[in-house]
Formats: sequence, C-alpha cells, structure tokens
Amino acid sequence: MVKRFAIILAAGKGTRMKSELHKMLHSVVGRPMIQHVIEQLQSIQLDEMATVVGHGAEEVTKKIGHESKFVTQEEQLGTGHAVLQAETLLGNVDGTTIVVCGDTPLITKETYQALIDHHEKVGSKGTILTAKAPNPTGYGRVIRNDKNQVERIVEHKDATEQERLVDEINTGTYCFDNQALFWALKKVSNDNAQGEYYLTDVIEILKNESENVSAFMTPEFEETMGINNRVDLSEAEKVMRRRINEHHMNNGVTIIDPDQTYIHADVTIAQDVIIYPGSIITGQTTIGPAVEIGPHTEIDQSTIERATKIRQSVVQGSHIGEEADIGPYAYVRPETTTQRNVKIGSFVEVKKTAVDENSKIPHLSYIGDTEIGKNVNVGCGTITVNYDGKQKHKSNIADHAFIGCNSNLIAPVSIGEGAYVAAGSTITKDVPGEALSIGRARQVNKEGYATRFKKQ
Ligand code: UD1
Ligand code: CA
Repeated sequence: MVKRFAIILAAGKGTRMKSELHKMLHSVVGRPMIQHVIEQLQSIQLDEMATVVGHGAEEVTKKIGHESKFVTQEEQLGTGHAVLQAETLLGNVDGTTIVVCGDTPLITKETYQALIDHHEKVGSKGTILTAKAPNPTGYGRVIRNDKNQVERIVEHKDATEQERLVDEINTGTYCFDNQALFWALKKVSNDNAQGEYYLTDVIEILKNESENVSAFMTPEFEETMGINNRVDLSEAEKVMRRRINEHHMNNGVTIIDPDQTYIHADVTIAQDVIIYPGSIITGQTTIGPAVEIGPHTEIDQSTIERATKIRQSVVQGSHIGEEADIGPYAYVRPETTTQRNVKIGSFVEVKKTAVDENSKIPHLSYIGDTEIGKNVNVGCGTITVNYDGKQKHKSNIADHAFIGCNSNLIAPVSIGEGAYVAAGSTITKDVPGEALSIGRARQVNKEGYATRFKKQ
C-alpha cells in the first residue's frame, strides 16, 4: 500500500480579508475554514498531515490542535517555498503527497479521493486538480500542448493575453510523488511577476525531466473556489449552507425555505422536524424528532427534545424537554433545563433555572437562578429578584405552587409545596407549604374623595 501524506498551506497573511483575524480562522458554517479542509482530508486515510503556518501561526496551531503536525514558514516567499518547509517532516519518505490550500474549504473528500485515484492510476509524478472556471481571472491557467497534455501552469499575473483566454484553472490542489516533489521544489526560482517561489512551477520542471504529469478535471468548479476576500467567504458560506440543509432534508427534516435557514455544521436534527424561515441553529445543538422551530428563532449549543415548539425565540446553552411550548418572544439563557410539557411564553426571560414537568411561565416574567417544581403556575409579570448588587441568590418554588400575577420573589426565598402567593405581592420570607402569602399594602377606599377633589 502506497503511503499518503498531505501538506496544507496556511502561512499567507490573507491581506484581502482586511481582518485582524487570520484568514484560515474565519468561519464557514461555524467552523474555521481550515478545519473543513482538515476534516475532509482526514477521511481519506493519510499517514501524515503537515500544515505550513507563518502569519498568525500561534492562533492557527492553537485552533487546529493535534489534528495536524506543523511546520513554520518564517517569511512568505511563495507557495513553492511554503511546501519546501515540510521537507524536515516528509523529505525522506516515499509515497503520494497531496498539497492543498487552507483557503479552499469546499473541496469534498470524494474529490480528493478521485484526484488521488487518478494520480496513482496513471502513474504520474504530479497531478493538478483543475476545473473550468466561468471567470478564470486571478487563477493560474493550465497550459496544454497540441496533444492536449499538460505542459505547465502560468499565473494570471505572468500570463500572456492568449494564455488568459484559457478557462481551465489550477485549483491549487495537487498530488505528487513525494520524492519528485521535493526534488523539483529545489529547482524553482522566483523569476516572475510576483518575485515568489511558485509551487506551480514544479509541473513544468517535472515535465522538462520527461516525467509524466497530468491533470484531473473536476466538473465541480464551485467546490474548488478559493476564499480570498469577504465576498468569496459569503459565497462559500452559501454553498456550505445549501449542502447542510440538503443533508437534513434528505434525512427527513422539513425546511420551509432553505435560503433563509442557517444551520451550522455541528448540529444534529432528527426526523420530522419542521424549520420555518429565519431560523439560526448553531453550536453543538441536538434537535429531537417532530420539533417545530421558527420562524425567526435562534438556538445555540442546546438540546431540544421531541415534539417541542419554539417560535420567535432565542435559546442558548439549555436543555428543553419534550412537548414544551416556547415563545413567541421568549429568551432562554444558558443553564436552563426543563422537563416534559413546560411552557415558557411571550416576553419571558429565563436564566439558570430548572423547570419540572407541566409547569408554566406564560407571560412577561424574569426567572433566574430558580428551581421550579411540577405543576407550578407562575403568573404574568413575576420577577425573581435574584441580584442584590453584589451576589446572585436562589429561589425555590415547590410542586403545585401558584404565584399570583405581578409578584416579586426576593431571593433567597422558598415557596412551599401547594402554596399560593397573592397577586402583587413582594415576598421577602419563605412561604410554608399550602399557605397563602399576601405581601402587599392593604387597599383603602375613601368614599366621595374624587367628587370633593374636583370641586376644589
Ligand atoms: C494559488 C496558485 C494559483 C491557483 C490558486 C487557486 C500559486 C503560485 N498559485 O494562487 O495557480 O489558481 O492558488 O486558488 O501557487 N501560502 C503560504 N505561503 C506563502 C504563500 C501562500 O503558505 O508564501 C498559502 C496561503 O496561505 C494560501 C495558499 O498558500 O492558503 C495559496 O496562496 P494564495 O496567495 O491565496 O495564492 P493564489 O494567488 O490564490
Ligand atoms: Ca487563494
């Protein structure tokens, strides 16, 4: 079995992004773009993976972690120079080396595999992954001879008018015989328009040695798109979004309008979920069967159980049990957990709160740092007063309790099982089980007062 290696180029500055953040770390569907490249490469059985870092090396290596080995390119003298930095790791081994740019996150494992298969089948020393570009401006062009064999790659900036008419482009992805690659790299010069050591020159150098070089053309130009600026980034996001949405639809999820549904890469969704437009589902989120989401709902880093409905709401870092009814206009903040059949209604904010089954907070409330038992009804306008300006305090509302409308529960405080809190109360002391607590000023009616006042 031939050994296989990969070299990922990620040392460039990415000037055209105009960003403080390293180009490779810009996110596409919630993952740094380079992580997509690494992930697809990992599924094609490699013996070694080396990433060439330079600009922003620290952030890039930190983000990628142990998934790849790293070599440093101190000065960015070109893609050929970049690959040469991997010689310390790969210079002495035999096998096939795939070279990829970190800024082409859309290439799939199937395309990588097809490229390798073609390369090994034709016994080539160097194979370029090419594509027909609708607008080839900026890309290196693949120059073929009259027998249609690949001769060399010419960079856009170095190309003649005639060569610029060629629409077959170099995608920046290649397969090489590893030894031939490092041998040829040492012969690359920087005598060109950009004064750089071009990796692309390796093809012509091998050809001049009468070595077999070839091209493998993928029909999927879209896949090979390189991200150089924010316009490219948004296009890549769109392609990836469509792939993800189609994946979920093929698994039995209804997405009413895929163009307006934003699901990140680490989200899992069960069958018969319906997602309405304007919904954004991000992070490590799991959606159970027959859940309905949206319209206009954000769910991040959460688990939503079976048959729950979440409309026009935001849910972050929480666990929502089955058959819940969330929203419209609810804000469920991190560390909230709810059991079966809970209602969190309109204009309700909940934070770090556990709600047991069949309990309801239907309208206009703030509930934070609270434990709510089973079958509790929290009336409209209830506030857990959890913050004294220095510390957060807890509230506890036991099973079957009934909190009247517009109550303040000054934490720390407990409401006992089956207790009633009268509407408009400010509760500062614990309420025993089955008690009625009234914490409000007594009403006084002054007969005839209004008439006298109006006569004055
Ligand atoms: C490159 C190819 C071009 C191809 C295009 C496809 C060369 C000379 N040109 O051009 O033929 O059509 O990709 O997208 O190879 N990098 C380094 N060190 C360097 C320079 C670049 O690591 O010194 C890395 C960059 O981080 C990037 C990749 O190499 O990931 C490609 O560099 P970039 O400047 O984007 O090359 P292109 O001009 O796009
Ligand atoms: Ca590029």
